[in-house]
Amino acid sequence: MSQYHIKNLEEYFQVYRKSVQNPEQFWEEIAEENFIWRKKWDKVLSWDFSKPELKWFEGAKLNITENCLDRHLHIRGNKTAILFEPNDPKAEAEHITYKQLYERVSEMANVLKDFGIKKGDRVCIYLPMIPELAISVLACARIGAVHSVVFAGFSAAALATRINDSDCKMVITSDGSFRGNKTIDLKGIVDKALEDCEGVETVLVAKRIHSEITMQEDRDYWLAPLLEVAYKDCGAEIMNAEDPLFILYTSGSTGMPKGMVHTTAGYMVYSAYTFKNVFQYNEEDVYWCTADIGWITGHSYIVYGPLANGATTVMFEGVPNYPDWGRFWEIVAKHKINQFYTAPTAIRALAKENLSFVEKYDLSSLKVLGTVGEPINEEAWHWYNDNIGKKKSPIVDTWWQTETGGIMISPIPFSTPTIPTFATLPLPGIQACLMDENGEEITENQMNGRLCIKFPWPSMARTIWGNHQRYKDTYFSAFENKYFTGDGALRDATGYYRITGRVDDVIIVSGHNLGTAPIEDAINEHPAVAESAIVGFPHDIKGNALYGYVILKEVGEGRDQNNLRNEINQLITERIGPIAKLDKIQFTSGLPKTRSGKIMRRILRKIAGNDTKNLGDTSTLLNPDVVDEIIKNAL
Ligand code: WT7
Repeated sequence: MSQYHIKNLEEYFQVYRKSVQNPEQFWEEIAEENFIWRKKWDKVLSWDFSKPELKWFEGAKLNITENCLDRHLHIRGNKTAILFEPNDPKAEAEHITYKQLYERVSEMANVLKDFGIKKGDRVCIYLPMIPELAISVLACARIGAVHSVVFAGFSAAALATRINDSDCKMVITSDGSFRGNKTIDLKGIVDKALEDCEGVETVLVAKRIHSEITMQEDRDYWLAPLLEVAYKDCGAEIMNAEDPLFILYTSGSTGMPKGMVHTTAGYMVYSAYTFKNVFQYNEEDVYWCTADIGWITGHSYIVYGPLANGATTVMFEGVPNYPDWGRFWEIVAKHKINQFYTAPTAIRALAKENLSFVEKYDLSSLKVLGTVGEPINEEAWHWYNDNIGKKKSPIVDTWWQTETGGIMISPIPFSTPTIPTFATLPLPGIQACLMDENGEEITENQMNGRLCIKFPWPSMARTIWGNHQRYKDTYFSAFENKYFTGDGALRDATGYYRITGRVDDVIIVSGHNLGTAPIEDAINEHPAVAESAIVGFPHDIKGNALYGYVILKEVGEGRDQNNLRNEINQLITERIGPIAKLDKIQFTSGLPKTRSGKIMRRILRKIAGNDTKNLGDTSTLLNPDVVDEIIKNAL
């Protein structure tokens, strides 16, 4: 990654200018220099945001796993590719070399082929953070199957929705998972989901917790015996640049989760390029991203980006507080981690604990710290900077999205001076801009606006699986000829961006993207509930927590309100997963509505956040009186 590997601020500006003046040439040079292609492209880019249609490196042929595996075999075959740190701190870490990873991916790919999985088929992966997860992802890519990883914290209903939406033929799972001192019955969840999924022909099961599970004949198979007899070589399927590589679901403000489709060549080029620059990875470094591969962060910056660079990437199965709150730092010290990438919510939780959990460990190996997923507050930033980085390791506050495929706005460590809470400058190739309410671009600095991107970048999602219209409506209709991110941002006098948060009905809780509509749908399924509205409110650790306003069908029935609250949260857990549970539930006789019947969430948000002084004009509401009632009973 020599070309455009940025070493100082001046270089950043040079490279950035070039990337904007001649984007095609810029990305072409990066693609030429750093990857192996079976055939080069005929055209670097064709695009039309009005359709939207996006094609990068059209005509090229490649397989991303040849870039992540095969080409490393000669130069770093015995280097650790994946360093697996198990949940149990006493269990030994597993070093999987590039050669071993190549073999294990090949075995898995051959097993998939034996079950009839071919190029273009969708495979759902519902696994904990064990090596089989990364191996399954790469095995799909090896044979051209489209992986759809579902985070193994989602419920059976949420899993079923995702399996059906993309017609997955196969599910890869495990008997269960370890999480601190708990175990989770993943296979039981899969069995329940599959009651509603007719298209699934095969379930492959990794053995992890050795629990008793039921195996359905002619559908469920243990993985280990199949892998044992599989060949350790599997030729790579030659893919077109724009063939889909994976689908990953993300919440929208309304309706079904959106299956974002990422394609092969552009995603590879961008995830690898940004990994190298944002983390300043060097050959001997050990890099750790604490995310789960079930999210985009794990796809791009545990699996594809690091492996395309021949990096050593850590996969951690456990949680930050098991066996105690020192676990992260114990791992950093043990494996001499050089780059550490986590979420603000984790930092806030860790910062609440006694500093002795940090001080016990030697963190001197750390060179670069990263955060992602939500705005980082100043206090958390300083705690991270002072106690973990010891004021020597730059913090990269990386702003991006499932839809963008890779990091978009971020400091380049040792080049971009950092300011707490600012994601700073767009990476090369990213033409960020702010738009005002009237759809005009804001050209001055020191202004707030809606964050948009004016020009394509290689790893942007190409569509929503099965619903291109929704893709267009969600991202390309708010502002003409711009990709709209859904975020608000401030640009300061020097051009630095600070992301201020979502401007739609998506709420980020502990770094997880949650849409209000599916949660409200789950609540409304409760027989006693007539209507509900969810808003976010500030929370010390989670960033935002959920506040639900619920109208019951019959008031004064004398039902135990706490029982009802538990039942509602139980329903949410079943429908979506525990991450979407409400912290506060207020029963109310009505919700503030506009004359057209739209719930005024702005008012509900203010009340939930205990900020009732500036509610704005409520006189135009259909039912202004209800506001006083809600304020009076606020929790
Ligand atoms: C939303 C995307 C990208 C991986 C994890 C989340 C918020 C993300 C930052 C940041 C402020 C951030 C945005 C964005 N977000 N990173 N550094 N500062 N906000 O992916 O689940 O698709 O969520 O996360 O609101 O739109 P995601």
